[in-house]
Amino acid sequence: MTLPDFDLDWHLWFERWEAMQNCYIPQRLYRFALMLELPGLPREDKLWILDLGCGPGSLAFLALRRHANGLIVAVDFDPVLVAIGQQVAKGTTDRIQFLLADIREGGWWKGYEEVFDLVLSATALHWLNAEHLAETYGRIYGALKPGGWFMNSDHIASDNPRTQALYRKILQEKHQKAFRKTGADDWNGFWEDLGRELNRLDLLALRNEAAFWEGTEDGQPKRFHIGQLERCGFEEVEIHWQELGEAVIGARKPSVR
Ligand SMILES: C[S@@+](CC[C@H](N)C(=O)[O-])C[C@H]1O[C@@H](n2cnc3c(N)ncnc32)[C@H](O)[C@@H]1O
Repeated sequence: MTLPDFDLDWHLWFERWEAMQNCYIPQRLYRFALMLELPGLPREDKLWILDLGCGPGSLAFLALRRHANGLIVAVDFDPVLVAIGQQVAKGTTDRIQFLLADIREGGWWKGYEEVFDLVLSATALHWLNAEHLAETYGRIYGALKPGGWFMNSDHIASDNPRTQALYRKILQEKHQKAFRKTGADDWNGFWEDLGRELNRLDLLALRNEAAFWEGTEDGQPKRFHIGQLERCGFEEVEIHWQELGEAVIGARKPSVR
């Protein structure tokens, strides 16, 4: 997929994305800070970092700020969000490379065997079905250097359906409260307004075509994540933070095999 050519107030749309995501995702920025801090990687080293399902690069830009010599590969298959990220980065840094690619496609992963010190992902992997997620965990393991870290912030389901129904209800109430308080766009409002501003329906059609949703809004159950990560060979698999159906999971590839 090639990146379409269009113009926008890139910084404004980046901020509107942030405001929207911050309403949906409890303690989003705190979670991002934890994901960067917990691996304890040296701040000045030339680290390689991958952000999967990066959107416009929210977490990738924070990683860049924390690791002054870090090099970031930021992957997403949404051409509009990737364009926003690229334009925000333009002229300020050449340490971030946006890659318009599908996480599920094996091809681009082949160039990244044992390259990364840290693989990050935020609110993206629940878009994949269980089979693709398990496969992706294996690819993340392969892309990490020995001793490298995977940190994932995402929805995580309870193993108990009754608890999950309560999580969903409480989270929805929190979302509504956050949107009322901030006046931020919700997901549909963001895309409708962006579509109007772009006046380019072909772009949104391209986006809809690319955004192949196959996952579950609840995310996979806790046991699934832990089991699949351990199956790949990860150690130190831990839930570092959880609130209702939201979590930060970390895992480390062993240093010596
Ligand atoms: C809710 S957004 C989160 C974006 C960003 N990580 C953040 O926290 O702001 C989920 C992102 O995952 C991306 N995504 C979902 N499935 C994907 C896939 N199979 N390949 C690449 N990107 C994907 C979507 O395009 C979207 O940008």
